[in-house]
Amino acid sequence: MITSSRLKDWCECISLLSHHLYRVCVSVQKTMSLRFFEGAKQAKIYAAVRPRYSDKVFDLIFKFCQGGSGKFKLAVDVACGTGHQSTLPLVGRFEKVIGLDVSEQQLKQAPKNVANLEFRQSTAEHLSFLDPNSVDLVTAASSFHWFNMPEFLTEVERVLSPGGCLAVYTYGWPSLRESGAKEILEKFISTYLAEFYHAGNLMSIGGYKDVKLPFKDSQRDTVTLEMDWTVEQLCDFFQSTSVWQKRLKVFPDCDSLNALEANLRRFYGWSSEDEHPRLTALFSVAILLGRKPLE
Ligand SMILES: C[S@@+](CC[C@H](N)C(=O)[O-])C[C@H]1O[C@@H](n2cnc3c(N)ncnc32)[C@H](O)[C@@H]1O
Repeated sequence: MITSSRLKDWCECISLLSHHLYRVCVSVQKTMSLRFFEGAKQAKIYAAVRPRYSDKVFDLIFKFCQGGSGKFKLAVDVACGTGHQSTLPLVGRFEKVIGLDVSEQQLKQAPKNVANLEFRQSTAEHLSFLDPNSVDLVTAASSFHWFNMPEFLTEVERVLSPGGCLAVYTYGWPSLRESGAKEILEKFISTYLAEFYHAGNLMSIGGYKDVKLPFKDSQRDTVTLEMDWTVEQLCDFFQSTSVWQKRLKVFPDCDSLNALEANLRRFYGWSSEDEHPRLTALFSVAILLGRKPLE
């Protein structure tokens, strides 16, 4: 005979178990995502081959900041990686810049001896070393999709100064201008990479289209990056991604990348003597900006 109090106990137990299971899943998922960028070799490839964001991206962000408190005292670049892509461009505009990342290996590759720049190891969700209302700009480049978003956004709300801004931005897969070459790239991505997508990859590839920052004052922009690359740089880019790292665990070879290069050589008519043929890789950067109210 099941009494109503036993039924209540069971329900509480099931609810506790499912909550616990949810936390375990979240923590496993986070651990997996963080490890994509952990190795020393991965960090070196990352620093060398990832595209730098253009001035247009930073001009947009700085203009948005100007429209808020107009203060440029402290900027914090969260999940900065090696700091070359998303942190360094802030130092000319802010009195002080802090880059932080959870990965020690990424931080080891960071630029040293820049007077107003410091790096520290920390997660995006725990910014307790920062005082409330103390940061004029928080940035998260190609990383927001790996975070526990509610926890991160709560911390951002706490540390931003009145009128301070949050900028989250990301790019998806590269594209090529010529339609035949574009098709070759798309086929490579759908055949060899798509099955290894993580939910975070899908968010980023989709340009954060379903993300809405919790600020009344917010805007969304897109900037196209044009990378003048050799075909090897394009292949190296793919190798620097979390998706490729996942693929490597199942298929530890680069045959698909060699085939991509061969197909592009055929399409563009590059001869085998042409060792480092160049192309223009296009990246669409989605930028989401939000501003804390001035009072
Ligand atoms: C794709 S890289 C982006 C690096 C750099 N911001 C850029 O734009 O090139 C993602 C970085 O996020 C870091 N990361 C992932 N989850 C994190 C978290 N919860 N807190 C801090 N860093 C995190 C990884 O260690 C990695 O360096």
